[in-house]
Amino acid sequence: MTRIAYVNGQYVPQSAATVHIEDRGYQFADGVYEVCIVVNGRYWDMEGHLARLQRSLNELQMAAPMDIEALKVVMGEVVRRNRLKNALVYMQVTRGVAPRNHPFPPEGTRPSLVITARRFDLDQSDAKAKTGVSVISQPDIRWGRVDIKTVGLLPNALAKQAAAEAGAAEALLVRDGVVTECSSSNAWIVDETGAIVTHPKTNRILGGITRQTAIACAEELQIKVIERPFTLEEAKAAPEVFITSATSFVMPVISVDGVRIGSGKPGPVAMRLREAYKARAARG
Ligand code: PDD
Repeated sequence: MTRIAYVNGQYVPQSAATVHIEDRGYQFADGVYEVCIVVNGRYWDMEGHLARLQRSLNELQMAAPMDIEALKVVMGEVVRRNRLKNALVYMQVTRGVAPRNHPFPPEGTRPSLVITARRFDLDQSDAKAKTGVSVISQPDIRWGRVDIKTVGLLPNALAKQAAAEAGAAEALLVRDGVVTECSSSNAWIVDETGAIVTHPKTNRILGGITRQTAIACAEELQIKVIERPFTLEEAKAAPEVFITSATSFVMPVISVDGVRIGSGKPGPVAMRLREAYKARAARG
């Protein structure tokens, strides 16, 4: 089936969808994005993703392409036109098209909006969670404002490629010995008391929407949440390691740099959280 994309006001076959060569997203990575999941026709954590999109736009003084309610309608329409029940929806806003020049373009330049959707395989995600995934570590060489979800993802792509070449699913990013997050997910460990630990929400990590929901789930399950930096060495010695993102939910990690985590099987805390996250997300 032909995939349909929304591009600047029009629904077009993806093969015919184009953006301008002087789009600032293309030339300066001057754009922001969101990735959300639809399961059984319902968006998971949509409000959180849209609130973060608004924050990213504000932080970069970028105009919104349309108001949030209209955006929800377009997102729903993209999923509908692609006849998807379970979908991964990608939404990108850039500062628009202008002759290449570093400062912002003149006021009134229209931001560009692209929304695409593709099938999301929930069963495949669950199968992966049953075995757990391996990760490697990579230096965190990103800029100082990774709390803004920009399309400037080259360091993330390089880290993910290194992981793929090592046969791993993700890369833990390490700055000054501390694990900040992963190339496209947040990183967590379980400590010896059974508490879950993740890097505090600073400019050094993206404040994950799944991270936020996982914290709420943990509180419901009476699992203690500690937001503090942890080191790579701590992660390798932890009883459990897991990662969170919109596309991986809560995913157990069974090895870090080839070092086995716990029993080498998905840990109980991560699996409980995964189930709780899925149940909560499905409730909306
Ligand atoms: N990535 N950290 C980074 C660097 C990310 O790119 C992501 C999400 C997350 C998790 O955020 P959330 O829980 O809101 O998905 C953390 C998306 C999935 C992506 O780039 O495809």
